[in-house]
Amino acid sequence: MKEMTKSIGLIFLLCLSLTTFAQTRVDALRCELLHNPISMDVLHPRLSWNINTDERNVVQLAYQVLVASSLEKLDQNEGDLWDSGRQESSNSIHVSYAGKTLRSRQKAFWKVRVYTNKGDLPWSAPASWTMGLLHYKDWTGRWIGFDRYFPTDNAEEGRLSARYLRKEFKTEKKVKKAMAYIMGMGLYELYIDGKKVGDQVLAPSPTDYTKNIKYNVFDVTDRLTEGDHALGVILGNGRFYAMRQAKPYKVKTFGFPKLQFQLMITYTDGSTETIKTDNSWKGTANGPITANNEYDGEDYDARKEFVGWTNAGFDDAEWLPSEYVQEPGGTYEAQLNGHMKVMRDLVPVTITPKGNDRYILDFGQNFSGWVKMKVKGESGTKVMLRFAESLSDNGDLFVTNLRDAKATDHYTLRGGEVEEWEPRFTYHGFRYVEVNGYPGTPTKADFVGRFVYDAMETVGTFTSSNTLLNQIHQNAWWGIASNYKGMPVDCPQRNERQPWLGDRPVTAYGETFLFDNTNFYIKWLEDIRLSQKEDGAIPDVAPAFWRYYSDNITWPGTYLMIADMLYRQTGDIRVLQQHYPAMKKWINYMATRYMDTEGIITKDSYGDWCFPPVSIEAGRGQIADKKYPSALISSANYYYLLNLMARFSALVDQDDDKLAFEKSAEDMRMAFNKRFYNAEGFYGDNKLTENILALQFGLVEEENKTRLQSQIVHNIEVENNGHLSTGVVGIQWLMRTLTDMGRADLAYKLATNTTYPSWGYMVENGATTIWELWNGNTAHPKMNSQNHVMMLGDLLVWYYEHLAGIKSADKAFQTIVMKPEIVGDLTFVNASYNSSRGLIESHWVKSKSNFEWQVRIPANAKAILHIPAKDLQSITENGKRIQNNSMFNVLGSENGRTTVEIGSGQYQFKTKL
Ligand code: BGC
Repeated sequence: MKEMTKSIGLIFLLCLSLTTFAQTRVDALRCELLHNPISMDVLHPRLSWNINTDERNVVQLAYQVLVASSLEKLDQNEGDLWDSGRQESSNSIHVSYAGKTLRSRQKAFWKVRVYTNKGDLPWSAPASWTMGLLHYKDWTGRWIGFDRYFPTDNAEEGRLSARYLRKEFKTEKKVKKAMAYIMGMGLYELYIDGKKVGDQVLAPSPTDYTKNIKYNVFDVTDRLTEGDHALGVILGNGRFYAMRQAKPYKVKTFGFPKLQFQLMITYTDGSTETIKTDNSWKGTANGPITANNEYDGEDYDARKEFVGWTNAGFDDAEWLPSEYVQEPGGTYEAQLNGHMKVMRDLVPVTITPKGNDRYILDFGQNFSGWVKMKVKGESGTKVMLRFAESLSDNGDLFVTNLRDAKATDHYTLRGGEVEEWEPRFTYHGFRYVEVNGYPGTPTKADFVGRFVYDAMETVGTFTSSNTLLNQIHQNAWWGIASNYKGMPVDCPQRNERQPWLGDRPVTAYGETFLFDNTNFYIKWLEDIRLSQKEDGAIPDVAPAFWRYYSDNITWPGTYLMIADMLYRQTGDIRVLQQHYPAMKKWINYMATRYMDTEGIITKDSYGDWCFPPVSIEAGRGQIADKKYPSALISSANYYYLLNLMARFSALVDQDDDKLAFEKSAEDMRMAFNKRFYNAEGFYGDNKLTENILALQFGLVEEENKTRLQSQIVHNIEVENNGHLSTGVVGIQWLMRTLTDMGRADLAYKLATNTTYPSWGYMVENGATTIWELWNGNTAHPKMNSQNHVMMLGDLLVWYYEHLAGIKSADKAFQTIVMKPEIVGDLTFVNASYNSSRGLIESHWVKSKSNFEWQVRIPANAKAILHIPAKDLQSITENGKRIQNNSMFNVLGSENGRTTVEIGSGQYQFKTKL
């Protein structure tokens, strides 16, 4: 009888697992990491998919991809473009299309079938991608605009009035398909028949337009019924007509706004027609946007609106014929990174009257974007909106730290009904807004804060029992998003907003845990590559809108670090292949120019930029942009980068290079120790950054390690009373170095400090993002942004990899190393990360003697767990011991941790500590 129940139980279990597996499916189909992209120039796009299941231990054994020229063919399982056949491979990320050559504008439909160790899965739902215009000659229009000033322009201030361009046309037949291709420099808005096309703002992404131009594509089929139509395009300055024109030797400017556009229509009878830019378009600069630029704001006079100008039948007799203009010079490329969009709306928390028709709005949060306003009043009434990050003691805006950025919008009322307005071609970094001249009494409902950043999913969540850690995480989220502007900028408020490389060597790696920024950083790497000079030099700012070719190691070195980050987090080998020659050229260039006879790299520009003054008082009123070049810092970083190059060369099959880089690295290590190691057991001047770099990069001799570690601890605990003392260079490595040393407790202490200098100190002093300076509240305002991400350093990496324990062992989370640090008074951490392979979760709760841990591992991945437990016997999963259970491959026990390998699925562990 007993036997019987057992076998029924077994059958039941089997059925259960088969039914569960039937729910398993392949989805999240991505082509070049996008879902159904509608324009791509990549000739061999990479296809990725996730296996979506709660089933445990699911591993892909093989796959088959079908790519067809029509949905019908795909439905009939006919891969007329590519049939990969059954491939015995666990690869589910970046499978390169290897079918027929794809033509411009061709649409491809695809699906995948996956074979797993738990059974075969049905075909996935179909997905698609569309090729862009692959050849220069596919662009049949001309560049149009006006390569000159108009009386409405303010050349001195670098503020042009927007250019308006229009064209009418007729569709005489039924439209089957209509695609609009646009390159609107610097920024454009496209309208068809009175309605804007797309929800992007500040498009396209900025580039060095002499090298590369991003074009945007829209499917506008639904817009074109038979009959008369009109196209309207507004052009703003963007980065094309630079915000400052006075120093052309420093600030790169590209000329006057211009447009190349084509609307490609296919009719149902198979015939085609292209409406393109030529001199039949009409244009004017005498419209409602009377001035615009990114730093200073936008002026809008609603009395000058052209009612119906983007509709057919508008009288444009007074407009000028548009002119053929110089093409910008760069190659044309479909924009694969997402557009900037209005990602969130905020309401003012308070409105404070300041007398004389002045009000201060407080949005309670520092962010970047603008304000949308509702207003009703007499025609000609002028409302002025000024933006700032903070207030002075008297409650007025504090704008000194914006330097000469005016950050001011002006709106002149049309008069009559309620008017609603928001700017198009500017953005501000702000928390507070001063409203001047508003007719009547403004209410909160009249203003909306529009938070603008590159549309990307938030992929990470982190909460813990420590509310300060959570607040810092939240501030980081706002700060990072605020500084995504088609490229990573340093800050969104002052007259700078430049893509400085040195702000993000590791910071960007931390950002990947919060945002799905892969295509964003792929785009930036390309910006950096294109900014390389013929001799190999890489600038500190790329695109080099500001020309800073200072031949420095730390800032340009970020180029290699971003490539490494993308490879590690997403497994993208193509990134390394594409950038390897440029990276190699740069690293060799630096050695030939700046290595002295003893093998030390002598050149550095910034040193440990923005390190904290010894006390908050010592930093009061102090100007922070002092440079302290350091050969130690450049040589240590050079050593790190040589090792990266050695690794890259192996990955891209350049074995000779690998040996050469390894040899150079070893030479550097010897030279470094000879020059900088002090027999008393420290490096250089015994600064925290100096010792951290030497230890973390592996420069230090084995026998000297322990002494060096004690110096580091002494520096933090004794000399700095439990505080950090690093600038932007040291902070990139600090938290992980301490943790690797076995002092996660000290890292935790730094992360939870609320006294100066610390992230907590910023929070305590009202920060809602991350400051540029540790002493941001007392330093001189000349270089003092309250929304800069660089000082995050490796903090977010530490949150996710070390507190939550979510770390990729090799690349793209195929093997996940989960070793959460149970530190300080933390009683729980609950984090998730939606990796390229799927969702990873780690939620641990610690009580006096127990530890509970829920983890989720995506299909086709495995994890090595380092479970805190007094012994193996005390570990249970879902109430059952893991010992002698074949699902758990126990690899060993050491120092209060048991190491266990598991496959995909959800698990609930309980242990005794
Ligand atoms: C920027 C920094 C940048 C630095 C380098 C500053 O003005 O805001 O983030 O890295 O200059 O000089």
